[in-house]
Amino acid sequence: MARIIIHTKKAPKVEVTEKGDSVYICMCGLSQTYPLCDGSHSSTRSEDDNELYVYDDAHNQSISTQKVNTKKI
Ligand code: FES
Repeated sequence: MARIIIHTKKAPKVEVTEKGDSVYICMCGLSQTYPLCDGSHSSTRSEDDNELYVYDDAHNQSISTQKVNTKKI
């Protein structure tokens, strides 16, 4: 079975370890080092919140023609 996962965040979540180190967790879904952020979220900066985007492996962006109902949880 395949599934589509929609990410709406455009920046990482920062967690601080017990040692005081910052860990950047990918929230955009584009990182090549997932679950850690690799800076790929910069590709999402131009996104319009009212559109659904699709990215290829090279992070080329296109607007999806599919209409998807989403529910934020
Ligand atoms: S939040 Fe996904 S790469 Fe940075």
